[in-house]
Amino acid sequence: MNHFLDIHKTDPADLRKIIDQASATKQARQGRPRAALDDELPLKDRMVALIFEKPSTRTRVSFDVGVRQMGGQTMVLSGKDMQLGHGETIADTARVLSRYVDMIMIRTFDETVLTEMAEYADVPVINGLTDRTHPCQIMADILTYEEHRGPIKGKKVVWCGDGNNVCASFLHAAGQFGFDLTFTGPAQLDPEEEFIGLARKAGSKVVIERDAAKAVEGADLVVADTWVSMHDSQSSKERRHNMLRPYQVNDALMAHAKPDALFMHCLPAHREEEVTSAVMDGPQSVIFDEAENRLHAQKAIMRWCLEG
Ligand code: CP
Ligand code: NVA
Repeated sequence: MNHFLDIHKTDPADLRKIIDQASATKQARQGRPRAALDDELPLKDRMVALIFEKPSTRTRVSFDVGVRQMGGQTMVLSGKDMQLGHGETIADTARVLSRYVDMIMIRTFDETVLTEMAEYADVPVINGLTDRTHPCQIMADILTYEEHRGPIKGKKVVWCGDGNNVCASFLHAAGQFGFDLTFTGPAQLDPEEEFIGLARKAGSKVVIERDAAKAVEGADLVVADTWVSMHDSQSSKERRHNMLRPYQVNDALMAHAKPDALFMHCLPAHREEEVTSAVMDGPQSVIFDEAENRLHAQKAIMRWCLEG
């Protein structure tokens, strides 16, 4: 069995296998009703626990639908309704859940909750977002890019705004899939040094450029995310907005990218804040393909987890 904890912790050959699998099962399902079963049912007679300690629309629904399409069953659990939210240790929770379910997906705050869950569970554990990373999202994004534009290897991706959890997983993917990443945002919100170092060590060109227009020059893909993440305090909202306003993705900024550049956002988006509606709803935007591809990418991730 395999855990899917982070992109930099997963072998590049396995990452490629997951993307190829996702693409193949997506193709095979074209035109079928949402609830129709897949041709192959790798989750037949399997039970998957989906634990949420933070809100979610896409992750919750795409995992739930994905498990069912592969013949399995789910239970969606809110962390605060479990003993986990009332002092039971992560290790004990992991050991108990391993007696009932065949796989655990967890969205949490501190990443040590995820890593401890994986350490003590006898079943695969999948990272559905922590304060630090969001690997399932970026697997969907790689699938989306390649569907529209072919191999992402060697391309220039520009991250605009907060060097947050989603940005971190993009940096991990840069190293593993071989693309370059330019970060443009205020110095206070730079991505973690450790993650920049990992991408560079893997051979990716990682550039920090404070001028958004210069950063986006020649971009193949421009990416934005919310300016206030779920783990950020609401009291930091005004300060963050003031720092991040120069990094809004709008038509003027997109004009600096390559004419065929794509725009991505993991959603949920705050229209007219980190990105304008003109860009979100414009011809370069692939945001709803990204959302759809969460389903296909995660199905391939779950399959890989069980294959071991
Ligand atoms: N992009 C993403 O993970 O969305 P949710 O928070 O709705 O799951
Ligand atoms: N950076 C955002 C992503 C939401 C899917 C957050 O953590 O809130």
